[in-house]
Amino acid sequence: MTTATFAPTLPGPRSVPILGRTGNTIQFFRDPIAYLRHSYQTYGDLVGLIEGDKLGVFAFGPEYNHYILTNPDLFNSPSMLLFPASPDSAARRLDAGLLSMNGAHHRQQRKLIMPAFHKKHVETYRDDMVAITQQMLDTWRPKQQLDIAHEMQQLTLRIVSRTLFGLDAGQNTQHIGLMSKQWLAFLTSPQVMFLPHNLPGMPYRRALAHAERMEANLRNMIARKRANPAEQHDVIAMLIQTRDEDGTALTDAELIGQANILFLAGHETSSNALTWTLFLLAQHPAIAADLLDELKSELHGDPPTIEQLGKLPLLERVVKESMRILPPAVYAVRNNTAPFALGPYEFNDPGIVVGLSHYITHHMPELYPEPERFNPGRWNNIDPSPYEYLPFSAGPRMCIGATFALMEIKLVLATLLQRYRFALQPNARIDRHVAVTLTPRQGMPMTVMPQDRQFQRSLVHGNIHEMVYLQ
Ligand code: HEM
Repeated sequence: MTTATFAPTLPGPRSVPILGRTGNTIQFFRDPIAYLRHSYQTYGDLVGLIEGDKLGVFAFGPEYNHYILTNPDLFNSPSMLLFPASPDSAARRLDAGLLSMNGAHHRQQRKLIMPAFHKKHVETYRDDMVAITQQMLDTWRPKQQLDIAHEMQQLTLRIVSRTLFGLDAGQNTQHIGLMSKQWLAFLTSPQVMFLPHNLPGMPYRRALAHAERMEANLRNMIARKRANPAEQHDVIAMLIQTRDEDGTALTDAELIGQANILFLAGHETSSNALTWTLFLLAQHPAIAADLLDELKSELHGDPPTIEQLGKLPLLERVVKESMRILPPAVYAVRNNTAPFALGPYEFNDPGIVVGLSHYITHHMPELYPEPERFNPGRWNNIDPSPYEYLPFSAGPRMCIGATFALMEIKLVLATLLQRYRFALQPNARIDRHVAVTLTPRQGMPMTVMPQDRQFQRSLVHGNIHEMVYLQ
């Protein structure tokens, strides 16, 4: 490792006794928000994963966000695979989606995929999104107690299965959704990461076998689509047909990687944004009442049309504020390809882990006074830059599904809230869990009441109180 000759020591938490770097990494993954917040509050805007160790650095705040996110060739996006897998394995092919590509290959693939996520095309999914939401609401009974986190996952899973893959609710959706969930669990499993032994009974071997089944599943789906090109309007069907200027199409291997990443990225994130927004509204009765007034007066009980979506300013502010205070993506990491400097620190080795945090940025009091207060009204007076407010990231690798997600979230909320009132079950424990996205660890236990306007907050326990000010 090379150290700068004149730079001061990079501050950061002490190395964990005996375990060293592995211990700090485990601590980080156990509760990234706690690790990041402690690091920022104690050491400032440039912090090592470990004090004085230049192999992992977090850079906090809009200026560093800008620097890192606008230099994608210097700061590459890493593979999602944190365990070894050979280049010709199913695991590698599943990983080969936009999220973990770099350089010219990333730019070429992004250009091919982009048209499927343009506003006009995304708007064609409005009817499917509304119909799937209404089908779910028809299965709920008034006063039913539900885990809303689970319900929102099922909902966004169906929406994404339909719009990305053309699949209907039922076995197929459940199957592919379950496989994707299990894959995500393998990707973040410490047992797979730290014990990558391809031996009978080992989680690592199960992860590799799971990847093979998942790839076969996606390959079959793509083959079925190729066989019936005329009938389909979903994203994958569009990607099968798409060609760049030279007439180059996506290969099957590329389609598998892109389909897998789109599916993973496309439902967990939106489902968490919806769950947290319903929680925040349930705990802020006055805001929930104002929002219902706006929805009823513009929509009269119906789901919004595309045109009406633009006429719901409070809904817009509620969603913005929800994704500020509890952003589904908490942090992102990059690996440098060449030496670089951050403030007084020089980093000369390639492959250093360079992190930034959407969550920490969104909770900076100089950007957002009283950052832990859920206050949609603040958006009347502020207009943050893309590097100060970045739930979908910013720059050339900004989320390709942002338009899709915002339309989906607003359509679902407007439909749900006009029909039901959501009450958190009293004394619920709400703790955070950051696997890939920010989720409520024990789910979100709520009672769905007919929309009777009797908004009332409930007593809530857990470390949610560290993130949101709740009276
Ligand atoms: C509330 C919902 C969503 C949130 C908060 C969100 C957030 C993000 C963030 C923060 C990134 C950047 C990750 C990084 O820098 O490493 C990202 C990238 C990405 N997102 Fe989303 N996302 C959402 C929904 C979606 C949807 C619905 C899709 C597709 C159906 C999608 C597809 C992608 C893809 C493909 C990328 C990689 C883009 C690239 O690297 O060029 N996302 N998203």
